[in-house]
Amino acid sequence: MRTRVVCVVLTAVIAVGCGGTEAPAGPPFSTDRSVQMLMANMLDPAADLLWDAVGTVVDENGENHWQPETEEDWLQVRLGAIALAEAANLLIMEGRARDQGQWVELSQAMADAAMEAFAAAEAEDPQLVFDLGESVYETCNNCHSVYWVDDADRGRAIGSD
Ligand code: HEC
Repeated sequence: MRTRVVCVVLTAVIAVGCGGTEAPAGPPFSTDRSVQMLMANMLDPAADLLWDAVGTVVDENGENHWQPETEEDWLQVRLGAIALAEAANLLIMEGRARDQGQWVELSQAMADAAMEAFAAAEAEDPQLVFDLGESVYETCNNCHSVYWVDDADRGRAIGSD
């Protein structure tokens, strides 16, 4: 009796395994949130965590320099960097990717630059975080110059301060 039950179950598994002609269903990813929504609400604020973390302003009151001081401050920089790196995966998903070539390369370049900044934040090196912020900015720009066209307001949110 027990043997028979096992056989029936096995047969069912084999039938499912071999019989189906449909493509295997992956995780139910959603790309309802557009590239523009990700840019405005995820990439831009994440980049700001990186870009605003270290700076120097010289005015009539003298030189004012700031950089992350506490563990909490450094966590914010790491958050910004890793969010950008992971955002690259979201950008290259089917439904968001504009093509399978340059778009993917430009997204991956952003991820690589962001992970270098992440490492600098882990090492708690403010000068390196500052310098690598520039490299990240270039990767944003490189994509925008190709794919973000016909927008008079282009660039308004980036590098505005
Ligand atoms: C792989 C290409 C790509 C990369 C990399 C990229 N962007 Fe974008 N970005 C776009 C495109 C395309 C648009 C225009 C979206 C639209 O209007 O449909 C855009 C638009 C934007 C906008 C305007 C959103 C709005 O409200 O209209 C902001 C802000 C922005 N990007 C920030 C960034 C920042 C910051 C980075 C880098 C950290 C970055 N982007 C990297 C492709 C990219």
